[in-house]
Amino acid sequence: MSSFSSPYVEALRSFYNAIGKRYNGLTGSLHSESAQRLVTAAGSTIKAGSWVLDLATGTGNVAFAAASRVGRTGRVLGIDISDDFLELASQEAKRLGVGEFVDFLQQNVSDLSLPEPYAGRRCFDVVTCGSAIAMIPSPEMVLAMAATELLKPGGIFVADMHGTHVPAKIFLDVAVPLGFESPIDPVWLSDPQAGFHKIFKDSIFELKALTASNVSLEAKWDASTAEATEKLWESIIVDSTWISFGVDKLDSKVIAEIKQAWAKKLSDYKGPDGVIVAEMKQYLAVAISKSE
Ligand SMILES: C[S@@+](CC[C@H](N)C(=O)[O-])C[C@H]1O[C@@H](n2cnc3c(N)ncnc32)[C@H](O)[C@@H]1O
Repeated sequence: MSSFSSPYVEALRSFYNAIGKRYNGLTGSLHSESAQRLVTAAGSTIKAGSWVLDLATGTGNVAFAAASRVGRTGRVLGIDISDDFLELASQEAKRLGVGEFVDFLQQNVSDLSLPEPYAGRRCFDVVTCGSAIAMIPSPEMVLAMAATELLKPGGIFVADMHGTHVPAKIFLDVAVPLGFESPIDPVWLSDPQAGFHKIFKDSIFELKALTASNVSLEAKWDASTAEATEKLWESIIVDSTWISFGVDKLDSKVIAEIKQAWAKKLSDYKGPDGVIVAEMKQYLAVAISKSE
């Protein structure tokens, strides 16, 4: 078990460890279906014999979808910070009988140091990152590393995000102007497509496709009573580490001000039954490395 020098990354690790086995059930088939679409978007670059690096692999949804294409002549490496997710992923690899060509490694994607047979080689055809690019503190740095140190020339980077978490977006809308230093770029919650354009804009990649497709999950948040609203607030402040990390550093008066402004703004989004309903979409980006 490694520990990470960044308190933010450590907080994320604890958060995902605490979810553990519940992860795949939490959002129904959202992540496994999205993983299939993500791998399909890579097109023929993920084929028999390809090498795929899956950043922030979690329980391995994207890694296993890729493994079914690359087969025994290829390789898949999944990276994550969560020990518990990686343990689940390794068990699944055994169950599927793909352990021979699918590896999992506990590392921070912002500080990668790959062992043999990957060390110091631009050996990957594809780098993937499912539902995690927004929570990486410097996605631009990860893109640069992918292009210059990991991908073969002309290799591709495929990433997706799901949007939009309305109560969390409102939280950042009100908290940032009141002095909260968001651990993520708020653009990922207000406009995930703009988030992708932003990170690829000055990168060594050419953005080839950016799509938005409907997913099977309907996003709903109950804010019909004071108790339900309080629970929703707690779910952002306590559970959604990647959005609220560092909020406890603020003065309690400022936190109270944020909470009040958040609750007020939340009302604008509620239906007559006090429930907030949002269209959930998968935003998927495919980019080709221009690095020689
Ligand atoms: C929403 S989950 C997505 C998991 C998986 N890719 C999927 O599509 O189901 C986000 C994952 O990102 C991982 N993660 C977040 N920051 C990371 C980092 N800096 N390095 C490695 N993994 C990270 C978390 O541990 C978690 O497993």
